[in-house]
Amino acid sequence: MPAVSASAPGKIILFGEHAVVYGWPAIAIPVHQVQAKAIVLANPRGRPNEVKLQAPAIRLEAWLADLPMTHPLAKAIILVREHFQLATIPACTIRITSAIPVASGLGSGAAVSVALIRALSIFLGHPLPDEQVSSLAYEVEKIHHSNPSGIDNTVITFEQPIFFTRNQPFELLQTGADLTFLIADTGVKSSTAEAVNSVRRNWQSDERKYEGIFDSIGRIALEARNVIEHGPSGQLGDLMTRNQALLKEMGVSSPELDTLVEAAMNSGASGAKLSGGGLGGNMIALAQPEKVDTVKDTLLHSGAADVIITQLKKS
Ligand code: MEV
Repeated sequence: MPAVSASAPGKIILFGEHAVVYGWPAIAIPVHQVQAKAIVLANPRGRPNEVKLQAPAIRLEAWLADLPMTHPLAKAIILVREHFQLATIPACTIRITSAIPVASGLGSGAAVSVALIRALSIFLGHPLPDEQVSSLAYEVEKIHHSNPSGIDNTVITFEQPIFFTRNQPFELLQTGADLTFLIADTGVKSSTAEAVNSVRRNWQSDERKYEGIFDSIGRIALEARNVIEHGPSGQLGDLMTRNQALLKEMGVSSPELDTLVEAAMNSGASGAKLSGGGLGGNMIALAQPEKVDTVKDTLLHSGAADVIITQLKKS
């Protein structure tokens, strides 16, 4: 049997991270410039259930049977096997590669899960529909952090801009104008689990304040949806900057994120904010096409480890 493969993109959250965990709406888009890939190679001489996992980026080379069930890659494979009610999986090697920086707010964990679940289901002869891929990837997300909203696995599986509210059917977003975003990496690794847990602790100690912040963020996400869909996009930058102020109040920004947000704004971006869990990772800036080069150079001179440019095209 020839090798089968599947890939999945990264993601950024334009509006509403953290508040989305508590039921407020959020907006996310895929980032096709970075991808995770899973390749499954049959091993005709192996015995059933002899599954070898290779993920050079995290220096992993192991048999499935030797990994704990709480390992995200093992969990994804077992979930697929259980979904199809299979007692065994044909012997194979599964190789994972990814250009999505880890622990940076770009959804690397969810993208690896989605690519792996897709590739394995194709290998088993039953390609899973997106709905199912996303829901299995959501189960793996629970290992990454115990209380995921589901936005990462959804945007990464469906590879479209989405308006997302927890436990509700998501909506695909139409776009009224082309939008260009710069994604700048602080170079500081950060764990989404840690960020989500710290917000939870803060929320528990001052529920009124945090509900107020979440509510303001939810309203911004609603306004942003309207602007993205119907334009003009002029106010979108302002909404991002207002969202960033609330994320800062929530305690999930960092000195490095603040520096890059300021650098982007000082060099002509229309708006900027952190994206994802925060406490490090990536920030995003919205810029008019003629400002993109200057904003990019400024971000790199202000300490960004890398800058990716991505566009949302008018529908
Ligand atoms: C992480 O990309 C987004 C968070 O809101 C967590 C979640 O929604 O599960 C921080």
